[in-house]
Amino acid sequence: MNPKYTQLFRPIILRSGIQLDNRIVMAPMTTWSSNDDYTVSDEEVAYYSRRSSGVGMVVTGCAYVTASGKAFHGGFGSDHDDFIPGLRRLASAIKEQGSKAVLQIFHGGRKCPPELVPNGEVVSASAVPLEQGTGSRALTVKEIQSIIRDFGESTRRAIEAGFDGVELHGANGYLIHQFFSPHTNRREDQYGGSLEKRLSFPIAVVDEVKKVVAEHAKQPFLVGYRFSPEEPETPGITMADTLALVDVLASKELDYLHVSTLDFWSTPRRGVEDTRSRIEMIQERVGEGVPVIGVGSIYTADDAIKAIQTGVSMIALGRELIIDPDWVEKVRQGKESEIETKLKKDAQSRHVVPKPLWQLIASRPGWIPMED
Ligand SMILES: Cc1cc2nc3c(=O)[nH]c(=O)nc-3n(C[C@H](O)[C@H](O)[C@H](O)COP(=O)(O)O)c2cc1C
Repeated sequence: MNPKYTQLFRPIILRSGIQLDNRIVMAPMTTWSSNDDYTVSDEEVAYYSRRSSGVGMVVTGCAYVTASGKAFHGGFGSDHDDFIPGLRRLASAIKEQGSKAVLQIFHGGRKCPPELVPNGEVVSASAVPLEQGTGSRALTVKEIQSIIRDFGESTRRAIEAGFDGVELHGANGYLIHQFFSPHTNRREDQYGGSLEKRLSFPIAVVDEVKKVVAEHAKQPFLVGYRFSPEEPETPGITMADTLALVDVLASKELDYLHVSTLDFWSTPRRGVEDTRSRIEMIQERVGEGVPVIGVGSIYTADDAIKAIQTGVSMIALGRELIIDPDWVEKVRQGKESEIETKLKKDAQSRHVVPKPLWQLIASRPGWIPMED
């Protein structure tokens, strides 16, 4: 290995006691490839297996915690014990390759297509319709409490299936994010109104999941939290709101915070007088308190080392591991110049990309860099 990359390959021990062999994480990516009954498919198991031999930790695409949270056609579930065998195959396939396996769990809230949820009833913190698309109705307090328990039940299933941890998907505009956002949360009860009240649902989910882990896990089991810094709407989550969220999360004894951005170097829109990147500000705010994972448009080994040198504990690779599943091994073997940074047209079977994901990539030009 070129010695300039050694920092990427230092092991790290997380608060739960889980040790990662290196600082490179596979970012959570839905594949739209579950079986028709939303169990994990063979195609998915093969896709994850192909990408799990070099990274320290794999975070799976998001698994819904209850039927009203199903946001993706072909996005697998975790809302019933019948899902455990498929989840177990997924966890085993990842762990057999030497990586830690983390199940991302979520509820889609207002981003769920009506045809995927019971009675076509789309639910959210409040009835704020999507900019283009469907409306939703506000959840009752009883329903909110039930969804909090569902996050706990999915965690129990992840433990039984042999995962090393769960990541709570509080990012990208799904239900946890919807509760934190003043754009989508217009409630005036204990779950909305002030910044503190907008934090109630995310924190209740964290507390429930930590409780389930304490009760059920017989060996170290990690809990991570993913969030998006800021949103464009006004009112909407500002960078100042994000730093308040980070302060509370940092006190919750989590294993890591995962900052969801499309570009690692993106800078705040508003809410602070600061020109540094959002991830650098978040890292400074938490200090040594909790490890931070940064992600977004890291394609080359030099991109990765530059990112980790900002002080984040780990970096995650998403699209890049679809494009080149051997990214980590190539860097480890001093072959970083051979990394593919554009998806080759003939790569589907060689790189084991499930057909539905391949077709989606082809239908959305510009989403994933493609060879001409
Ligand atoms: C195909 C695809 C599926 C994704 N699915 C998820 C998901 O299930 N959960 C999530 O938190 N982010 C998801 N993301 C976002 C990625 O985790 C990542 O944050 C984003 O792609 C930016 O990182 P990158 O430039 O390394 O790809 C997805 C991204 C892609 C490309």
